[in-house]
Amino acid sequence: MTRYEMTNKLRSAISKKRFIHSINVMNCAVELAKRYEVDTEKAAIAGLLHDCAKNIEGDEALRLCEKFNIELDNVTRYQPSLLHGPLGSKIAEIEYGISDREILSAIYYHTTGCENMSLLEKIIYIADYIEPGRRFPGVEEVRKTVFENIDAAIIMSLDRTIKHVLLRGGLLHPNTVNARNYMIIEKLAQNQESG
Ligand SMILES: [Fe+2]
Ligand SMILES: [Fe+2]
Repeated sequence: MTRYEMTNKLRSAISKKRFIHSINVMNCAVELAKRYEVDTEKAAIAGLLHDCAKNIEGDEALRLCEKFNIELDNVTRYQPSLLHGPLGSKIAEIEYGISDREILSAIYYHTTGCENMSLLEKIIYIADYIEPGRRFPGVEEVRKTVFENIDAAIIMSLDRTIKHVLLRGGLLHPNTVNARNYMIIEKLAQNQESG
């Protein structure tokens, strides 16, 4: 399937608002891919399709996860908004013909992050966070930081996400904690080496 065909298919699968968001994430991911020397076509496809399962709701999403043998952890089971990452990865594979593991993994982890993220995973995670349609206090700072230091920008966004979840008394996904700890340890190790 060409990217043009994927775009048309996606347009009919998700809401207009979500489609515009997806195009924004795609464009933002391409800019970041250029900056960090990642394959721009992979970034474009992962950005375009990252929310391809977003409009599949509650029971239907759970049913599809069962059908596709997606193993769900307890946090995801009780926090259904997280389902569209794993499910989207499977749908990108089956319905959009994506076989590239890096793209599928970037879609899989875009909502939670994960330990030891690849550059493509980082790009999709942060593009989703800062695309031009996003408006929240502090977003400008992350937008500025991301072109200088993508890791610093991701730590900022993970911190904010974690705080936000805690303030609501919500469930914190272990992948989000692991993503943050991994990046902080990496930074500490670098400082130690250079110091
Ligand atoms: Fe998403
Ligand atoms: Fe998104």
